[in-house]
Amino acid sequence: MTLPLTLLALLATRLAAAQRVIKAEIWKPQVADNSTTVDANDTLSTRSIGTLLTPRPDRSLYWINITIGTPGQPQSLQLDTGSNVILIPATGSSLCSSSLIPCDVLGSFDSSKSSTFSNTNQATGETFTDGASVSGNWIYDTVGISGASVTSQLAILGTSGSSITEGVLGVGFPASWPTLNHNLATQNLISSNSYSLWLDKASAASGTILFGGLNLARFTGALLKIPIVGSTNADGSMSYNQATVQLTQVSTLNGLLPVIQTPLTYSENAILDTGTTLTILQQDLATSIINAMGAQYYPLGSTSGNAIIPCQAATNNNGPSINFHFSNLLTGPTINVPLSQLVGTVLGSLNGISYCQFGIYSAPAGAGWPTILGDTFLRNAYAVYDLDTHHVGLAQAVYDSNVVDNIIEIPAGGIPTGIVIG
Ligand SMILES: *[C@@H]1O[C@H](CO)[C@@H](O)[C@H](O)[C@H]1NC(C)=O
Ligand SMILES: *[C@@H]1O[C@H](CO)[C@@H](O)[C@H](O)[C@H]1NC(C)=O
Ligand SMILES: *[C@@H]1O[C@H](CO)[C@@H](O)[C@H](O)[C@H]1NC(C)=O
Repeated sequence: MTLPLTLLALLATRLAAAQRVIKAEIWKPQVADNSTTVDANDTLSTRSIGTLLTPRPDRSLYWINITIGTPGQPQSLQLDTGSNVILIPATGSSLCSSSLIPCDVLGSFDSSKSSTFSNTNQATGETFTDGASVSGNWIYDTVGISGASVTSQLAILGTSGSSITEGVLGVGFPASWPTLNHNLATQNLISSNSYSLWLDKASAASGTILFGGLNLARFTGALLKIPIVGSTNADGSMSYNQATVQLTQVSTLNGLLPVIQTPLTYSENAILDTGTTLTILQQDLATSIINAMGAQYYPLGSTSGNAIIPCQAATNNNGPSINFHFSNLLTGPTINVPLSQLVGTVLGSLNGISYCQFGIYSAPAGAGWPTILGDTFLRNAYAVYDLDTHHVGLAQAVYDSNVVDNIIEIPAGGIPTGIVIG
């Protein structure tokens, strides 16, 4: 159903009176990083690039500031749409000393200083999809976010871990426990378990998340709603783990005519995940795109894995681009990703040309990796996660820093369909 514009305008006016929207900045830490100081004349040796291509969550993921406890102790946590737990490092624990960004920068929690702390005394060993794991206790305490307070929020107070580099705020679907976003809705701080992401462009230091709202000024064209793909349980009911959507066509543009890079019957489940820095596509498709964009696999001669691109592509605003189409090819959303947004960290130089990491990673065929639309994709989209109704709204993001916010609440029924502006 498409609501007429006038009705939407009325809806927006009526809601403006009592908007329940929580706005928070999401930011990329500007941590001094020795690995970017590659000698301009370095050759791209396997050793140095192997190290450099290890994802650096401290540089590329998005962080959100919250407080925990009473009085609130500040924490910066990695915002992760792909998981559903809150992980907070315990003050003085080994997790703090093993973190990539130390607790004295991002915060840790001293439960003895909180009057609202409650320990379930239940130990947990949580494993994330990327293999990282953490040990600690399930605890309850008050979480503060942009001035709002959620009481009795369940979290893991982490004491040790492996491959875990930071505290996490997982805002995925509630499992057997409620997420922060779920509690924001059930404690009436927002009207639905939903949030909107605007990561801004690759070069920007921060973006915005709106819990329970969306910003009409941050996208262009229609915000089109598509279903989240769930899995069917033995008893016929559905379960939802992540914001998985149906990718139905990918084409590249270089000049006027798009070149379709996927088979006619293509349909691939793809996860919209802020917790992954690159976009991970299956080998055949990734290879076609790497070729069409003028990137190349690295180490040279590989046929999957990492790719590199001349860094100067970052400043070419008229370069090639990729169109990602979702759900129904006629009525579903299309997000355009220009090459300039797919140029990552400077890696070194080869034959006098400076090379950067390419924003698409090629999953080896048959390895069973999921397709993940990570930050290099998400920065181009305005993405509304409507978890109550199991939908995602997608539109092309607008980067203009001078636009005036036009924030509306997402009502209990979820995103109003067919919001068109401009
Ligand atoms: C980065 O360089 C500084 C100054 O040379 C040094 O103290 C620090 O240990 C280096 N960090 C890493 C991670 O190598
Ligand atoms: C790179 O090589 C050129 C030519 O040999 C030299 O002039 C320049 O100083 C070198 N740059 C660095 C950073 O070493
Ligand atoms: C978040 O907290 C960090 C650490 O205290 C601080 O440096 C940063 O400015 C804060 N960012 C925002 C957006 O509040």
